[in-house]
Amino acid sequence: MTRAPARQLVRLGPDDLADRLTEALHVYVSAMGYPPSTARHRRTLWLEHVRRPGWRAVGWLDAAGSLLGIAYGYAGGPGQWWYEEVRRGLATAGPEAQRWLEDYFELTELHVRPDAQGLGLGESLLRALLTDVPNARVLLSTPEYGADVPGRAWRLYRRTGFQDVLRQHRFTGDARPFAVLGRTLPLSPSS
Ligand SMILES: CC(C)(COP(=O)(O)OP(=O)(O)OC[C@H]1O[C@@H](n2cnc3c(N)ncnc32)[C@H](O)[C@@H]1OP(=O)(O)O)[C@@H](O)C(=O)NCCC(=O)NCCS
Repeated sequence: MTRAPARQLVRLGPDDLADRLTEALHVYVSAMGYPPSTARHRRTLWLEHVRRPGWRAVGWLDAAGSLLGIAYGYAGGPGQWWYEEVRRGLATAGPEAQRWLEDYFELTELHVRPDAQGLGLGESLLRALLTDVPNARVLLSTPEYGADVPGRAWRLYRRTGFQDVLRQHRFTGDARPFAVLGRTLPLSPSS
């Protein structure tokens, strides 16, 4: 008898994400520690994102087929809210810094359910998502850690070679400071 794998890393298409949206949003709110009501606001946005150029997603499933973690992103570009917000932040930073916005993949979401964190699932999602991405760079935003010790997300991004693009950036409508981090692609197995 063949035993089912304990966990599986899978690629998710637009229909897979739509089918698993409630579950995926639960992973998101529980990982981020957000109130469950946040999920309702995100439904439409995540479904809109799947139609963007270059959209791709990966997930980890447990032996019962439940979602343990999810990552997705798409090709960034002018007219998108996030692009325009980062462009505003880079406006005074000089032409070299602004090159970050040329030909990039936005790593939009990366979350692992709290009970499955710290096992390397997040890193494997990040690496699987970025494998064969055709863009020259990858960018993401993550909350600043302030006076606290950098958390697991920061350790993961630094370990995989992400550099500072913007620090203490304020996105419109969010009072928290964020960092925008980036690196060139491809991501080699050792970086
Ligand atoms: C950030 C997040 C996605 C990282 O996922 P994760 O699976 O918890 O973390 P990693 O893949 O980096 O796990 C690596 C940790 O597991 C340990 N580990 C154990 N086995 C491992 C393995 N085989 N391979 C890699 N790491 C392993 C590492 O030592 C590392 O420990 P450390 O982070 O304490 O230094 C996840 O913690 C999360 O969802 N956090 C909340 C939401 C969030 O902040 N998302 C990002 C918003 S921008």
